[in-house]
Amino acid sequence: MSNTLLELSHISYRYPDGSIGLDDCSLRIARGSRNVLIGANGSGKTTLFQHSNGLLRAQAGVVRYDGKEINYGRAGLRDLRGKVGMVFQNPDHQLFSASVQEDVSFGPLNLGLDMATVRQRVASSLQTVGMTEHADKAVHNLSFGQKKRVCIAGVLAMEPELLVLDEPMAGLDHAMQKELMAVLDGLHQRGITLLLATHNIDFAYRWAEHIHLMAAGRCTASLNAAELGEHATALTAVGLPLPEVIKLHRGLVERGMVPATPAPRCANSLLGLLTTLNIAKEIP
Ligand SMILES: Nc1ncnc2c1ncn2[C@@H]1O[C@H](COP(=O)(O)OP(=O)(O)OP(=O)(O)O)[C@@H](O)[C@H]1O
Ligand SMILES: [Mg+2]
Repeated sequence: MSNTLLELSHISYRYPDGSIGLDDCSLRIARGSRNVLIGANGSGKTTLFQHSNGLLRAQAGVVRYDGKEINYGRAGLRDLRGKVGMVFQNPDHQLFSASVQEDVSFGPLNLGLDMATVRQRVASSLQTVGMTEHADKAVHNLSFGQKKRVCIAGVLAMEPELLVLDEPMAGLDHAMQKELMAVLDGLHQRGITLLLATHNIDFAYRWAEHIHLMAAGRCTASLNAAELGEHATALTAVGLPLPEVIKLHRGLVERGMVPATPAPRCANSLLGLLTTLNIAKEIP
């Protein structure tokens, strides 16, 4: 069993109108890891995702899943799509059944599972995303965020090895964003590999183990999130700032108020650090 679950090696892809989607792009995703893909609009994130489950086929380079080149035959793609679950950026591109329940059932039915298992998976996925009460509703009558939740449920019901989510937080309310994080944490604990696209560097720093930077159809750097503070130049090159918590922590370090290490990954851990140092108590 390979430690690298997904590997794109020198992938180039041009859309039929001549636009460059990917340009000699290489990326490795380690089994069981939490990954974020981040980069400007049009940098190639969605195009890269579509190569991960064979929706698009590279014109140059090789995509390997679990150490093997993707087999683009019918059976090969079916097998791959049972392992790589994808939540699309735009839910209208993903949902196609009449009702919520039908849509979420589609994937597991396609895997050839028996009805009892399908029903159980559908019920549990809908519950996870808080859509149980909308199970019989027509998909086209749902709000944007509700559609997004149904897409997530549909993919969860497949129980994939690799879950690819294209800007999953966009359009979700605060409560659902928090719940989705908890769901992703649960999946990670079960060994599922996670890859998601976001524009939020603060979230990426808090959540990911590996942050992959995208620019002009290429992955320009794959960084250990814990070391992100040392890579300001690579971030600037793709138009991103350092996370706010790194800037704040550095300001406090410069003033001799907190030690340089460990660097907190979110506001709550910085607050925890200040509290243990007894500084927070002195602030009126
Ligand atoms: N169907 C298409 N036909 C032609 N060009 C396309 C198509 N889809 C994407 N592109 C082009 O490919 C490039 C990469 O687009 P992609 O959608 O992968 O970017 P992205 O990083 O996902 O952007 P965003 O942050 O806006 O979602 C862009 O220049 C885009 O215009
Ligand atoms: Mg995109």
